[in-house]
Amino acid sequence: MKDYKRTLVTCALPYANGPVHIGHLAGVYVPADIYVRYLRMRGKDVLFVCGSDEHGVPITIKARKEGCTPQDIVDRYHGIIKKAFSDFGIDFDIYSRTSSDIHSDTATDFFKKLYDEGKFITKESEQYYDTEAKTFLADRYIVGTCPKCGNEGAYGDQCEKCGCTLSPEELINPKSKLSGAEPIKKATTHWYLPLQDYELWLREWILEGHKEWKTNVYGQVKSWLDGGLQPRAVTRDLDWGVPVPIEGAEGKVLYVWFDAPIGYISNTKELLPNDWEKWWKSEDTKLVHFIGKDNIVFHCIVFPSILKAYGDGFILPENVPANEFLNLEGDKISTSRNWAVWLHEYLKDFPQMQDVLRYVLTANAPETKDNDFTWKDFQTRNNSELVAIYGNFVNRAVVLTHKNFEGKVPVNLKPEAIDAETLNQIPAIRAAIEDNIEHYKFREALKEAISLARLGNKYISDTEPWRVSKTDMDRTASILYTSLQICANLAIAMEPFLPFSAKKLTEMLCLENLSWDQIGSGEIIPAGHQIAAAQLMFSKIEDAQIDVQLAKLAASKAANAEDVTAVTLDTAKAECIFEDFEKMDIRTATVLEAERVPKTDKLLHLKIDTGLDKREIVSGIAEYYSPEEMVGKQICILANLKPRKIKGIESKGMILMARQPDGKMRIVAPDERLVNGATIG
Ligand code: 2FM
Ligand code: ZN
Repeated sequence: MKDYKRTLVTCALPYANGPVHIGHLAGVYVPADIYVRYLRMRGKDVLFVCGSDEHGVPITIKARKEGCTPQDIVDRYHGIIKKAFSDFGIDFDIYSRTSSDIHSDTATDFFKKLYDEGKFITKESEQYYDTEAKTFLADRYIVGTCPKCGNEGAYGDQCEKCGCTLSPEELINPKSKLSGAEPIKKATTHWYLPLQDYELWLREWILEGHKEWKTNVYGQVKSWLDGGLQPRAVTRDLDWGVPVPIEGAEGKVLYVWFDAPIGYISNTKELLPNDWEKWWKSEDTKLVHFIGKDNIVFHCIVFPSILKAYGDGFILPENVPANEFLNLEGDKISTSRNWAVWLHEYLKDFPQMQDVLRYVLTANAPETKDNDFTWKDFQTRNNSELVAIYGNFVNRAVVLTHKNFEGKVPVNLKPEAIDAETLNQIPAIRAAIEDNIEHYKFREALKEAISLARLGNKYISDTEPWRVSKTDMDRTASILYTSLQICANLAIAMEPFLPFSAKKLTEMLCLENLSWDQIGSGEIIPAGHQIAAAQLMFSKIEDAQIDVQLAKLAASKAANAEDVTAVTLDTAKAECIFEDFEKMDIRTATVLEAERVPKTDKLLHLKIDTGLDKREIVSGIAEYYSPEEMVGKQICILANLKPRKIKGIESKGMILMARQPDGKMRIVAPDERLVNGATIG
């Protein structure tokens, strides 16, 4: 592998149209921060660059909705996002913004040079135009019916209901989001980068030259290239963005995906006006882009083609370790449905617990496939790993040192084999952490780091200094000496992953200027060194705290369900009197047995316990529930419905079901297990 002199690490510039959530942290910012902290601890020359992506249509839409300017929106969210990153210890050298002058100048220069050198093609095409609002309509400003699923609120670029990608032409009954009017087609001129001209070069550079890239990244690039590249528009008809710097292009701006990646360069320039070129134009710089999977094409195909077209010695990424997506409690994270854990809200509910979230998001990072965040897993990992293993070990070592040796690292008076055997395992753990981080496998790296805490916890449990101290202070001294060496190793090895608790640990041990190379190198904390009082690194998370989070999500789900049903509810039925209702004998029951009714798709034959009796019913739920799912389920039934024969079976009763807006049926069940036969009314 090439020996680089310096590493430039960039993180995808988040859109400044909303706060950031756990999906952002898990996919991009925490892995990048681990990588950078690790390199810094190794004494490497690193630059960590990010900033807000302040252009693009969603920002203009939000501004219209709120009756303010796009600048107001980005000013608000730039601050919120910047603070959230800093609160979570994501330690950028610069976090700037694409609405800055230096960015506008840099992006303008890129466009101009490419334009002057004939690197673009110009095309006139027909695009949707709103005659009332007197403006061309960006894809997001056109809504209509999705041709794939019939959703009436699909956008010109995507249907959020079925997830398909669309072009505005595919929408049925397109309408302008601005005026509600039916848009017309009008000719407009735009500039395109002919990506097909770069195809061979991209194949050689990535498909031949970077077979070591993550399979998800390599695979996506290959499928784009195999599908054949097309010219890509680099301008838009919009009034928010960097103006297209040529005559005759009034009312047009650079496409956000043209200017945003140039933001990496302009932010570097802003930080290092006299020294930025060595980071971008030297073969001794290793450039690594951390991004999410939806950004792969832009970072592996479009931006490199822009840099190649520009020339002038700009380097290309050495790697693009893109992650997949994080889901939340089994569902896609969604800003519009408020299905997310927002970082600023998390910190209100779990103050000072940044490391817990960093830990859980890394342990469960979506590195090779989409993964799920659940609050239960969050609680379990905190309580049984951070508190019970890492925190517990450190606490026992520090407290016992104070109790027995007045807080001074004891002399290693009576070593035994187990001490050396334990310490000798550390170099291999360090090597495994290094290898994994250098290959962008942060989950595995963290597993190795926490195995060091496990090693310490096992050592102290096996050697029992609290018991030995009653009879043998010399041996106690050696045990605590060894334990404190492990603690010092942990303070270094954990820093890239959990910087806040590592800082506490370093303070407890009164150590300074630790460096990565000390891990596994023998004595880090010498005998006689005074340590400080124990501080709590992690605390237990109670069920009630988790319940609060789950209740928040349930409220989001309910609010969304209300939104959906508002347009798709069955029409109300005619009034009835109480006596009509009273005639119905509705009760709880439990399913004892279930099987499909032969030769039918929809029917299940169930044996149920109604509390009053055991009886059989036939229910049309086979489309929604399997027989296995039904056995043991508590249900509600209309028990006195006149029996009727269905497919030769006498069915005595009916299961209560709720019809959802999409027509699917779900069982209505009590929210806790009740006795069978409890009457409902
Ligand atoms: O997907 C996003 O959030 C984009 N704003 C990322 C831009 S990355 C870079 F190229 F600026
Ligand atoms: Zn659809």
